[in-house]
Amino acid sequence: MSLQIRIEKTKTPKQKPDQNKLGFGQYFTDHMFIMDYTEGKGWHDPRIVPYAPLQLDPATMMLHYGQAIFEGMKAYKAKDGRILLFRPKKNMERINISNDRLCIPPIDVDFGVEAVKTIVEVDKDWIPEAEGTSLYIRPFIIATDPFLGVRPSQTYMFIIILSPVGAYYPEGINPVKIYIETEYVRAVKGGVGFAKTCGNYAASIKAQMEAKKKGYTQVLWLDGVERKYIEEVGTMNVFFKINGEIITPSLEGSILAGITRDSSIELLRSWGLKVTERRISIQELYDAHANGTLEEAFGTGTAAVISPIGEFNWNGNIITVNQGKIGEISEKLYNTITGIQNGEIEDIFGWTVEVK
Ligand code: COI
Repeated sequence: MSLQIRIEKTKTPKQKPDQNKLGFGQYFTDHMFIMDYTEGKGWHDPRIVPYAPLQLDPATMMLHYGQAIFEGMKAYKAKDGRILLFRPKKNMERINISNDRLCIPPIDVDFGVEAVKTIVEVDKDWIPEAEGTSLYIRPFIIATDPFLGVRPSQTYMFIIILSPVGAYYPEGINPVKIYIETEYVRAVKGGVGFAKTCGNYAASIKAQMEAKKKGYTQVLWLDGVERKYIEEVGTMNVFFKINGEIITPSLEGSILAGITRDSSIELLRSWGLKVTERRISIQELYDAHANGTLEEAFGTGTAAVISPIGEFNWNGNIITVNQGKIGEISEKLYNTITGIQNGEIEDIFGWTVEVK
């Protein structure tokens, strides 16, 4: 795609936040990327403009029917000054998987990566360098026809915003407590569970709020049909170490195919560990705990990176994993993935992409 990205720089740069108090998703940089789609014309007019509110018609389709998708990725500044992205092509490929499910026209994957590189380069001074921080990149596409009938929009906007972030969970790398959700469901096969679409997250909030009231960080979703098999946390995929083997739920249409999940599987295998992708029931997890073979549990995600799980609550049955402490594998994965991401560990997989 030979589109030229027009760049209009802000005349009023914002003050940058304290790098040690970033939290997640609270601050936004000086610029944003926008590209429009019009049926018959395709994607056009890519531009980087000062970060500002969007002006939308109240009938904008996305506001009513949620025809929208998003991605999450991160940029890091290496000690030698290089700016690194982590597997950006994977995110752009996943945009097209989500787009296809939501009837949104595909983007050009290479151009998407180019757009990310360009906006990160423009706002590179916003990449935080404090331990555990990064520049979170949020590409998203929204349906913009002002129309109240239910059909695919004929116009869209592809936008990329950037946010300097610290840890996603207040716990940081310390183990989180997870509530096993038995009333609500996240997704079913044939639905949109594998797509990164807004509705999945909107539908998860009620369960998350109820779990929070009980003192839990997040919920673990079970399959929507039998409420028996473990799916994902919603902000992360999950892994268990049982009797020396690493097990993660297989992707069967209702789980998001996480890029950190994929990277973790590859890393674990490269360390000689046995990794199995298969259905795993919540009963099997509890049985493994009962017979002393559940060694570790952790989540993987772009925002969360690696998040050890220290406790599960399933219908009031509470189990503690690895005495509530960070497990050996979770810690090694966290250190290796963040080390590759920030350029401190040699990237033998060719996962990092430099922004120049
Ligand atoms: C991510 O890990 O990037 C996500 O999109 C999860 C969450 C912040 C919604």
